[in-house]
Amino acid sequence: MPLDQGTITVIVGAQWGDEGKGKITDFFSGDSDYVVRYHGGNNAGHTVIVNGDTYKLHLIPSGVLYPTPISIIGNGVVIDPKALLDEVSYLKTKGVTPNLLISDRAHIIMPYHKMLDLALTNHQQSLAAGSTKRGIAPVYGDKMFRNGIRMVDLLEPNIFHEKLNKSFIFATNLLSAISSSDFDLDFDSVYNDYLKMGKLLSPYISDISLELYNAYNNNKTILFEGAQGISLDVDHGVYPYTTSSNTIAGSISTGTGVSYRDIHRIIGVTKAYLSRVGEGPLPSEVHGEEAIQLREKGGEYGTTTGRPRRVGWLDLVQVRQAVRVNGLTEIALTKLDILSNTKELSVCTEYDINGVKESEIPASLHKFRSAKPIYKQLPGWGDITSSMLKDGYDSLPNELKSYVQFIENQVNCKVSIISVGPERHQTIIR
Ligand code: GDP
Ligand code: IMO
Ligand code: MG
Repeated sequence: MPLDQGTITVIVGAQWGDEGKGKITDFFSGDSDYVVRYHGGNNAGHTVIVNGDTYKLHLIPSGVLYPTPISIIGNGVVIDPKALLDEVSYLKTKGVTPNLLISDRAHIIMPYHKMLDLALTNHQQSLAAGSTKRGIAPVYGDKMFRNGIRMVDLLEPNIFHEKLNKSFIFATNLLSAISSSDFDLDFDSVYNDYLKMGKLLSPYISDISLELYNAYNNNKTILFEGAQGISLDVDHGVYPYTTSSNTIAGSISTGTGVSYRDIHRIIGVTKAYLSRVGEGPLPSEVHGEEAIQLREKGGEYGTTTGRPRRVGWLDLVQVRQAVRVNGLTEIALTKLDILSNTKELSVCTEYDINGVKESEIPASLHKFRSAKPIYKQLPGWGDITSSMLKDGYDSLPNELKSYVQFIENQVNCKVSIISVGPERHQTIIR
């Protein structure tokens, strides 16, 4: 079903990120007046494929490929201005000119944040999440330290100088203390480079909270595009193997200034199996030849870093939490085509933690490290043909429909969207 006029819909990841949020966001963007990113930064990598053309987006919302929607980057997003300008240029070379607004309150990733990210990862060793090295944890850290720099500051050279002076000294002292490698960072060149980038971005910088408030009151349709997934949420995920923002639907309020009271639909994007780029325990991970086959068939390589993704069986303990914490109204189940022609499928329904059955993800890292998956085996299905795509959900193989129903019963949420390929049209609404 399309989006109703005048409504607010949120797309969120129900696993470890890379569930296909970009594809599902694009699918609904034709109905939207605004498509909005509300947290995360260019650690995200969202792929959209339209008529054989592939677009990889990191900061600009996946609605950008339609002419109508205005693309908004909210205050909860952390922005590397160089990465943003590069993304605008990349889109222009592909014939797409973004109609963009950027929150004046969004925090900015500085060069020292990326250096600190690397130093922190080296320092944390077995507790490191395997960051994308985009400076995400240090920039959110500076925000909470009240030591950060925001988009609006780039428009006010004196204020920017005053803030950078403090922030730069703090960061470089920290770097000298925790990193043995030399770093080469010159205050004046950072100041001048960022002022220049601020000038280039100035036409886009505005109060997006007010823009969205007025839009909603004028019956506009708004689509929020989450990044990452539930288990990477800094509060509800598998801490410290998370990212540094809240990835759940509730963060649209803090990340854009739009009230959660007005949300109509919350769609949790769920891959039909599991992938994870980064470190930490992963109870239903598969290894060896089985992993290689699934990774190659699913093209499971990071959109941002190109790292091979770890893969495994669908973990319903995780999806159950995503349904509850996000208040999902529905699930979009993606990549079912990748499981085609697998004889038997395993689905993790609970964990065995030191001999005790658990149906929720534990807060204790010790317990999560010991979690063993308890599987239910389900029969596989054959090819998904183009005629099935045309004829809709009922024409899909019975085993696939049983897989979908099993998930629905286990997590108590309806699967309303079925994705059987990366292209916009390879989507079935149930
Ligand atoms: P995101 O971060 O959640 O937006 O996901 P990514 O774009 O990082 O990774 C998902 C990958 O799966 C992309 O390469 C998509 O093109 C692809 N994809 C999405 N849905 C499907 C699907 O139903 N089938 C197949 N085969 N690929 C899909
Ligand atoms: P999308 O939006 C998958 C992971 C990293 C690492 C942890 C912390 O494409 O789904 P960070 O750079 O944020 O400090 O890294 O989070 N990670 C993602 N994994 N998809 C993403 O985004 C991710 N963004 C961050 O691999 O484990
Ligand atoms: Mg991704």
